[in-house]
Amino acid sequence: MTAPDPRDGAGLGPLAPHVPALLRGTAAYHVPQPPRTVAKLDANELPYGLPGDLRAELGRALAEVALERYPDAAARRLRAVVVRQLSAPGPAAPRAPITGDQIVFGNGSDELIAMLCSAFSAPRGGRPASVLAPSPSFVYYRLAAIARGVEPIEVPLTPAFELDEAAMLRAIDEQRPRVVFLALPNNPTGTLWRMSFATELAARHRDVVIVSDEAYLAYSGATALPVLADHPNLVIMRTLSKIGMAGLRVGYTVSSPAIAALLEKLRPPYNLSALDQCAAEFVLERASAWCAARAAEVVAERSRLAAALAARGFEVFPSEANLLLIRTTGATALWHRLADVGVMVRLFDAGPLAGCLRVTVGTPADNAALLAAL
Ligand SMILES: Cc1ncc(COP(=O)(O)O)c(C=O)c1O
Repeated sequence: MTAPDPRDGAGLGPLAPHVPALLRGTAAYHVPQPPRTVAKLDANELPYGLPGDLRAELGRALAEVALERYPDAAARRLRAVVVRQLSAPGPAAPRAPITGDQIVFGNGSDELIAMLCSAFSAPRGGRPASVLAPSPSFVYYRLAAIARGVEPIEVPLTPAFELDEAAMLRAIDEQRPRVVFLALPNNPTGTLWRMSFATELAARHRDVVIVSDEAYLAYSGATALPVLADHPNLVIMRTLSKIGMAGLRVGYTVSSPAIAALLEKLRPPYNLSALDQCAAEFVLERASAWCAARAAEVVAERSRLAAALAARGFEVFPSEANLLLIRTTGATALWHRLADVGVMVRLFDAGPLAGCLRVTVGTPADNAALLAAL
C-alpha cells in the first residue's frame, strides 16, 4: 500500500470533503533535519548565542518564575519594556508617544499574522475575504489565510524581486483585500522595497489594513514606526526571533488602540508563557546592546559573503536582511551536496525562485564552512 499523500487529504476518508480544497492542496511547513549540522544557515536566525554572563543572569531570572501559576495574560512588565524601547529617542522613534494599549503580543509573529487574517475575515457580498501579499514572500501569509478560509492573493514581484507597485495598486483596486502584508525587507529575497509605499497605501486605502512586517529591522534599520500615528490602518509587526531569540516565541504588533483591541479578542489569553515573558523582558532590558552589536557584525559579514559568493559565479540578490538569495544552475543538487556535509541552507528551486538557494548570514566560521563546501 502506498502512503497517503498528506497534501491532498488522502487517508482522511469521508472526512476529506470537509476540508477546504485550498487547505487540502497545501503542504505543511517543512523543516528538513539533517543527520549533522556544521553550519545552520537555513532559518534566518542570529548565529550567536548569549554570552555566558548574560546566560547565567537569565537563568537566575527564569528560576524565579512561578511555574505553578498561569502567566500574566496582559504581559504587563514586558509591555512596559517594549513601550519604553519603542519610545527611545532617535531617527526610528515614533512622532507620537506609543502607549501600552497599542501593543499586542503573539507567540512569534506567525501567531499575529494568523490573528490579522482572522480579525478581518468578514466575507464581502458572498465572496470570502482576501489578504494580499507580493510573491515570493514569507510563506506563512498564505498558509495563515488558507487555514482561516481567507483567500490569499499573490502579486508577482519583478524578475529582480522588486515590488511591482503598479500591479499591487491594480490588484488592491480590483480585488479589495482586507489586509496587505509587506515584508520590509522581504523573505526569502532580502530585498527592501520602498518603505514609503506602505504608508502611501495606508493613506490611499483607509479600509485596508497595511502590515509593515519588520522582522528584519535589526539588519535594515527601516521602519514605518515614526509615522504610525498618521495611519489608523497601519500595523507594524516585529519579532525577537531574528535578534537571537528564535527559541522564544515572542512577537508584537504596534497599531492604533482600536486594531489592538480587536486583535486582543483573538489572542489566546496565555499565548506567551511565563518563561517567554521573563526571557523576552530580560533580553530587551539587559541584552539589547549585545543583540545590536551582533546584528551589526552580521551586516558586515553579509557584504563579505555576498562578494565571495558573487566571485564564485552565483547571482546574488541585494539584501537588507540577514540572508542572501543566490541563484545558480543545479541548485537542488547543490543543496543536497551541502546538506551531506552538514551545511544547511534553504532550497527554493521552483517557479520564480527557480535555481535559488537562501543562505542565512552566519558567523565568520559558518560562512567559511559554506564557502569551503561550495
Ligand atoms: C518576514 C517574516 N515575518 C515573520 C516571520 C516569523 O517570525 P516569528 O519567528 O516571529 O514567527 C518571519 C520568519 O522567518 C519572516 O521572515
